[in-house]
Order: sequence, then C-alpha cells, then structure tokens
Amino acid sequence: MILIKNIGMLATAEGNEPLRGAAQHGGVKLRRNAAVMINGDTIQAVYDNGSAPECDNVIDAGGRLVTAGLIDAHTHLIFGGWRQHEVPLKLRGASYLEILQAGGGILNTLVATRNASEDELYERAEKALAEMLDHGITTVEAKSGYGLDVENELKQLRVIRRLSAEGGFSVVPTFMAAHAVPPEFKGDPDGYIEFICTKILPKVADDELCEFVDVFCETGVFDVEQSRRMLTYGQAYGFKTKIHADEIDAIGGSVLAGEMGAVSAEHLIAIDKAGIESMARGGTIACLLPGTSLYLGKEFAPARDMIAAGVPVAVCTDFNPGSCPSNDLQLCMNLAYLKYRMTPEEVLAAVTINAACAVGRGETLGTVEPGKQADLVIWDAEDLDYLVYRMGTNKAEKVIRKGNIVK
Ligand code: NIG
Ligand code: FE
Repeated sequence: MILIKNIGMLATAEGNEPLRGAAQHGGVKLRRNAAVMINGDTIQAVYDNGSAPECDNVIDAGGRLVTAGLIDAHTHLIFGGWRQHEVPLKLRGASYLEILQAGGGILNTLVATRNASEDELYERAEKALAEMLDHGITTVEAKSGYGLDVENELKQLRVIRRLSAEGGFSVVPTFMAAHAVPPEFKGDPDGYIEFICTKILPKVADDELCEFVDVFCETGVFDVEQSRRMLTYGQAYGFKTKIHADEIDAIGGSVLAGEMGAVSAEHLIAIDKAGIESMARGGTIACLLPGTSLYLGKEFAPARDMIAAGVPVAVCTDFNPGSCPSNDLQLCMNLAYLKYRMTPEEVLAAVTINAACAVGRGETLGTVEPGKQADLVIWDAEDLDYLVYRMGTNKAEKVIRKGNIVK
C-alpha cells in the first residue's frame, strides 16, 4: 500500500466514458486537500486529507497538484531517421504534400525505417518513451506506417509489442500501412489498399499485433472510398478504427469517421460543419494535434466548434519526424489552452479520460478513482491553471505507473 497525502488539488474526471460538450469542462472535479491510497497497481480509495487512514508507506505531495497519468493517444513512434533537412524547404514555402509528392516526407522516413533493424527501432522508441514517462505520460498509442510492405510493417508492430512486453511501457498498437502509397505501388493507391487488406492485414491479425487500424484520408494520398475499404476490412478483422482526416483538405474523412463509428478521427484542421455533425452523431472522438499545426505553420483545429457540437476532444502530440518532431504533450496542453482556447479543465480531460477512450482504455485509465490503474502524476504546480500556463519546462515532479514510482 502507498498513501499519497497532502494533495493540494486533485484534478480528475469521473467514469469510463469520454467527456463531451459542457461536460468536458464541468466533468472535471477539482478536489482540495485530498489523499489517494494505492494497492499494488490499482487505486484503492480517494479521501479527504483528514479522513485518510494511517499507512507505513507515505508520499507527501507537499500541497501540489495531482492528476491521472497523461495519455498520448496519437504518435508515429516507430521510425528511422529524422527530417531536419525539410525545415528550410518548408520555410521557403514548400507544402507538406509537395514534399511528399517529390518523394520526401513520409517516403524519406520509409527508406530509413526499412533500413533500420528491429533493435535499432526499439532503442530509438525506448529513448522517446523514457522522455515521455519523465514528462508524466504513462500510456502512448503508436502507429506503424513507415514500412509499407509486409516485412517492415510487421517489424514496426513487433517493436511496439516488445516495448510493452519487455520495456515496461504501456503502448497501444495501431496498424497504419495506409499512411502513404509506397514506391512499389506508385500511382496505384487502389492496388496498394488491396495489397494491405489481403496480404498484410491477415498476418497482423494472425499475430495479434494491433488493436486499431488507421488510414490517411487526404488529397493525393487515399480518398474516401479507399479509406472506407481499408477501415471496413479492419473492422471485419475485429479491429477498432481511427482516421487521419481533414488535416489539409476536408475531402470527407471526418464524415466517414462518424458514419463508420470510428473511435477517433485525427488532425481535423480543415473540418467543416458536415464533418463535425457526423462525428457528433457517431460518437467519434476528435484527436487534435496542436504541435502539428505549429510545425506545419497551419491553422489550429476549431476545437471550440467541436466541443460546442458535443464532439469529445482529445489532445495528442502526433510525434513523428516530419510534421511534429516533438513528444512533449505538456507543450500540446499549453497550445490547446492558448490556441484552441480550451479551459484548463477541458485540456485535462483531453489528455486523460478522452485520450484513454481514444485508445480503448476508458475502463482502466484516465481518472483517479477506486479500481482504476494507479497511473498518477504529482506536478510541480499548485493548481491546474498553473500547469497549462507555464510553458517549456517539464513540470512532472513524480510519476507513478501501475503503482510503481518511475520518477
Ligand atoms: O499525422 N499526416 C500523416 N502522417 C503524419 C506525418 C508523418 C510524417 O510526416 O512522417 C501526421 O502528421
Ligand atoms: Fe499522425
């Protein structure tokens, strides 16, 4: 047993479902002078300070803020190489899609990822995950999508599995071979989707290497029909679905997400009214990625419109070597506060319970309540307002994952 006592503010949502609309703010409770009892890897009880029982093993939170461990529900964690050479091109005006169409971008990382051994990819990802844990991120979603053939997609997914099994991290695997059209299928996206669905996906399913299937629905990448086909196959194999939608153009990806009951749709910078309405109807979570808007020099997604329409909003990093070379979810929280104009409570829900639901973990993660996994952060912060206001320093003071003090 461990008792965390003297918590100045315990900020947490309640329950296992995503918070939407007014509840994304109002569903986050700010409890003063609290204490939390941990039993093994589970939260046993939450008390007011005075009513907490005696315990031999006490952590004194020193009057600070405590929250559930943060969850990054969208990363492209497994990749070879970085792409710093692209930044000057972007600053001179080349667009993301122009760089991709000229064989750079994702296709550049494809070569570096295919050339990297499984162990190299493991070590790189392990380093990034250690940084994230140090910042209070206790669960991370990770996508394949830089292999784009049978051997290398499976290689990426095996790395993700090892990070959980051997590395002691909590990593949720997503299969995203539909991330770009590889050179072998240049000009034939339909042929590539067919190849993924009939040649790669069955092997992924046989080896139980993913929980989600994702597709990049975008101008010049995969259109709505190709995306529908990819996700229909994914669902037929029993996987949950996600869609990279409306990052650059609103070609119908977010409408499709709602129609198909996708768990989440990602990016949504260019989302329109039809997309927002479809997602609200479908119960699809919006995974917004403010670091990507920053790096691409783009608009910030209309988070307020989505919240107003009852779409649950999560905030994630999109960590990848191109559009967001940052794995700092705290920075994304600052950006969500300033650029999405989300309240501190909405931001907290976005990186805890809503993110937990976006990775299919609403039952076990995302809130500080009895029965949930003991993933907690003691922040070098007096309250939630301070946490989202301070920028550029790591404010995670103590991190507890599955009941173990990992920082
Ligand atoms: O989510 N949009 C597509 N995929 C990634 C970028 C990947 C890359 O540029 O390497 C994203 O932004
Ligand atoms: Fe992404």
